[in-house]
This record gives sequence, structure tokens and C-alpha cells, in this order.
Amino acid sequence: MRHDRHAAIGVFDSGVGGLTVMKALLERLPLESTVYLGDTARVPYGTKSGEVVTRYSLANARALMEYDLKLLVVACNTASAVAIPALREALPIPVIGVITPGAQQAAATTKSGRVAVIGTPGTIASGAYQRALLAERRELEVRTQACPMFVPLAEEGWTEGDVPRLVAERYLTGELLEGVDTLVLGCTHYPLLRQTIAAVVGPGVTLVDSAHATVERVVEALQERDLRQLERRTVERHFLVTDTPARFVEVGARFLGRPLSGARQVDLKL
Ligand code: DGL
Repeated sequence: MRHDRHAAIGVFDSGVGGLTVMKALLERLPLESTVYLGDTARVPYGTKSGEVVTRYSLANARALMEYDLKLLVVACNTASAVAIPALREALPIPVIGVITPGAQQAAATTKSGRVAVIGTPGTIASGAYQRALLAERRELEVRTQACPMFVPLAEEGWTEGDVPRLVAERYLTGELLEGVDTLVLGCTHYPLLRQTIAAVVGPGVTLVDSAHATVERVVEALQERDLRQLERRTVERHFLVTDTPARFVEVGARFLGRPLSGARQVDLKL
């Protein structure tokens, strides 16, 4: 491990979802080499216990550390909610999750002081967003709602039309949105449903997607350590998966917003 500017940024998620963060990363930091790991053999993380998600996250990080990495992005809300302390303890490089940047952006956005957060059951149950938001502004009122059905809808490409609208209307209702002016999309898959969610919650609610805020945090962390790649040289893009790559490559292109040339299957030997 060289810990120099030419080393790559590692990114992991339970599957394709983290490619929404990857998309923002590639747009903002095109000169950086990247290694992305989607743990497609064990997805979803959102319905699993914190203990199991932490174990999987450490295994993902170990596999990524086989590459020359200078920073790790946990591009999964569920893993960011439960595994950041263990990852920081285990790794010699900076670890950045998606929750704190998303919470900071939401805290800076709300005027009413009422923020709603939607995410997987694991993320919501962990209380990580609630804690991160209150750490920014103690007076905030935080409402939460797990929306597990949004993940398969996004993966199927059912992001617009009657079915996702009805699901969104079922989740995003009642007290959840009373007085709320800011809604955190606390799951990597939800940005794909952005238009449907926006139509259901209405124009008075600003949607916060942590991908861009997370990437800004990455930029800061690299600059603070003088690790930002400033030279235009050949960038490396590796995509790793733990199940066979075909579905990841097909579905992933939608999340990444560009074709995926391929992915290599790795065995984490869990
Ligand atoms: N990537 C997960 C997250 O952001 C969603 C998919 C899953 O449940 O694994 O929470």
C-alpha cells in the first residue's frame, strides 16, 4: 500500500446501489482510479442484522485492500449505519460513509426544522441518521420510515408509473411528512425513484441524496492529506462482484448512468 496520489479509491456496496455514489464520484473526480466491489452474493444488507452487515463489510474491505487504495467509500447506507467504527479500526486508510454527509446536507437544507428520512429497515432501526442529524442540529425533529419495497423496484427498473407511485403513496403518508420540508433518500437505490418520490411528496419537500455530499467529503479528505490525483494519466476502473457478473453489468448500467464494460467475480471466503 503506497498511500500516494496514484493509489485508487475503493468503493463498496451490497450490490448495484452504490453505483449511484460511483456515478457522482466519476463525474467529480474523473482522474482518480477506482475499485468498486458489489457484494451481489449477499445482497440485500438492508434486512440483515448489524452484526452480519459488519462482518460482510469487513470482508469487502479486506478484498478491496488487495488493491493499492488510498481511501475507502462505504457507498451503502446500511453498511454506513452499522459498520463504520469497525472499518475505521481495521483499516489504515480513511473511511467515508454516506450517512454523515447526507445528514449534514439535510440539516443545512431544512428551514422548518423537521426532516424525514427513508431507508432500509436496517438503516432506520440503527438510528444512525437520527443521531447524525441531531449531532448537526440538536433542535431538529426527525421522522423516519423504512421503505424496503423501493429496492426491488429500482433493481427491476420499475421507477415510474402506477406501481412505484402506489408503493410510494403507501410509505410516504400521514405524520411522516407533517411540517417536513426535507426528505433524506437514505438508501443508495432511492435516487432512481427520485421523480416518483418527488411527485408523491410534492414541491414543498426538498429531496436530499447523499451521493454528491459524500463525494465532496471524499474531495476534502484527499485534499487534507495531499492525496488528490492531479495528473492526467491512465485511470483504472475495476468492478468486482461476489456473484456471477451478468445481472450486475445489466442492472448496474442504469445506476451508473453509463454502460459497464464488465465485472470480475471474486470469492470472499466468508
Ligand atoms: N445499498 C443498500 C443501502 O443503501 C440498499 C440495498 C440493500 O439492502 O442491500 O442501504
